[in-house]
Amino acid sequence: KILILDFGSQYTQLIARAVREANVYCEIIPYHKKVEFDPSLKGIILSGSPFSVNDVNAPEVDVQALNQQLPVLGVCYGAQLTAKQFGGQVAKSNKREYGRALMHKQTDDVLLKDVMEKSQVWMSHSDSVLQLPAGFNVLATTDGIPFAAFKKNGETNPLYCVQFHPEVYHSTEGKKMIKNFLVNICGCKQDWTPAHFITDTVNDLKKQIGDRKVIMALSGGVDSTVAATLIHRAIGKNLYGIFVDNGVLRKNEFEQVLETYNTIGLNVKGVNAKQLFYDQLAGKTDPEAKRKTIGRLFIEVFQQEAKAFEGVELLGQGTIYPDVIESVSVHGPSVTIKSHHNVGGLPDIMHLELVEPLRFLFKDEVRRVGAELGIPSDLLNRHPFPGPGLAIRILGEITPDKVELLQEADHRYIQGLKEHKLYDQVWQAGAILLPVKSVGVMGDERTYEFTVALRAVTSVDGMTADWAHLPYEFLAHISTDIINNVRGINRVVYDISSKPPATIEWE
Ligand code: XMP
Repeated sequence: KILILDFGSQYTQLIARAVREANVYCEIIPYHKKVEFDPSLKGIILSGSPFSVNDVNAPEVDVQALNQQLPVLGVCYGAQLTAKQFGGQVAKSNKREYGRALMHKQTDDVLLKDVMEKSQVWMSHSDSVLQLPAGFNVLATTDGIPFAAFKKNGETNPLYCVQFHPEVYHSTEGKKMIKNFLVNICGCKQDWTPAHFITDTVNDLKKQIGDRKVIMALSGGVDSTVAATLIHRAIGKNLYGIFVDNGVLRKNEFEQVLETYNTIGLNVKGVNAKQLFYDQLAGKTDPEAKRKTIGRLFIEVFQQEAKAFEGVELLGQGTIYPDVIESVSVHGPSVTIKSHHNVGGLPDIMHLELVEPLRFLFKDEVRRVGAELGIPSDLLNRHPFPGPGLAIRILGEITPDKVELLQEADHRYIQGLKEHKLYDQVWQAGAILLPVKSVGVMGDERTYEFTVALRAVTSVDGMTADWAHLPYEFLAHISTDIINNVRGINRVVYDISSKPPATIEWE
């Protein structure tokens, strides 16, 4: 295992993902947490940070103390902190370095094994190490800085520093350096693979659960499906899944997802609660009111259904690692833009012990585990879909008629994306029904009907997103397809806003 001490850099999770990609397990903890040195821990990585090491409140750890126990790699701020603590000089340099830089290798050190003599790296720092501490050696330079990579000499555990960000995509050989650190310097075995994860997790689940019963809300999404499949492997029929039709799912989604669950062999009950949701949503136009209503009803329905399974003691959840990483808050608590609802409200109310087999996985790892478990790829590669479903894509009041209209338009759009091989190129797509009617003409007749907005974005994690530059021909095709076939819609527009300042969903 590798431990990553987080100093608040926006790239810390990328370090973790790069380590995991090398099939080595790692965890992120805030820099101020105590490091537990157990025998499985093989090395420590110090992350970057928005701070300068010379700030009065600069976050610190005792690098020497850590290094006495284990090999250490300092990245950017981590490198500067190390240099400063060992007596080097760190200051704002007059040559700031942001973006691409060409790294020149100075020695054949094991950290740079198999890395080219000149290699592109990504810089993002305004401070720079101006003088190395005594006993340190330079490994690489760039045109801008003399100490792009350096290490401490001597008999102790290796101590390496890089001022660039090896974890980002634009450091072309960064992953190689990280792998060198993990395997050749820390001696990690590369055994963090989906197959190993499944064997270990199923064993752990068996131990945790024994012959007790687990209940779980399924959504048709990747996380809940993979989590349920793992639990099912461990305890079989003692897992009861509940999948609620809240009336605002996509067209045919309820039936199709239930069928997939059946194929996987999961024990899932489909609950048709459409009418209840429509009744309670009637007259509600405020986005937050709609979200809260759906969240509340979902919990009610789930609790009602849960009663049918006597003696349930545990609640399964598809929580993944990004939801649980304790982040170092640099700018204070963030404001709530939208009260995202998913099944997150359940645990507090149900008073059940949690079972969260994906708690330490990143999303891409969840998909790989899912593939190894034999879950169909169309389910694994589905776009994210919000908990409140189409309710937040029908602006204004929700009626069953409007849901049907939007389901049909959305279905044609998504099918079109799939047929034109565009579905996997965008991160998320969907149609939005606007509360706007406009005049059109069909044949000799005047129409006065609704407008649908199409949205497609590219993104990595949904935090920021760009509108997808879908081909004009495709947009033309879909527009005709929807207007000709969905009665009640006579106008289609395409959303060309990025996030920020817009958001992905319209409500
Ligand atoms: P926004 O609209 O905030 O969306 O840019 C970012 C991502 O979150 C999804 N989303 C939600 N997911 N409950 C959810 O489970 C919600 O209330 C909710 N609102 C937005 C959205 O689909 C996108 O993937």
